[in-house]
Amino acid sequence: MNLDKVVCNCMSITNGDIKDAVDSGASTLEEVQEATGAGTACGVCCDDIQHLIDQFVAERDK
Ligand code: FES
Repeated sequence: MNLDKVVCNCMSITNGDIKDAVDSGASTLEEVQEATGAGTACGVCCDDIQHLIDQFVAERDK
């Protein structure tokens, strides 16, 4: 995965920013939104963010 790819254009949040938030303890979309601001403007990226969270949580907790 390209961690430098922007997932949320509104807030300029990258895949890596989502991973950092998950590695810091966020496990839900709400927690990642709180930690990064991702998905808190137009919201079109929320499905993509949720997919990333699912992947990163699975990696973190395995
Ligand atoms: S692209 Fe993420 S809130 Fe708009």
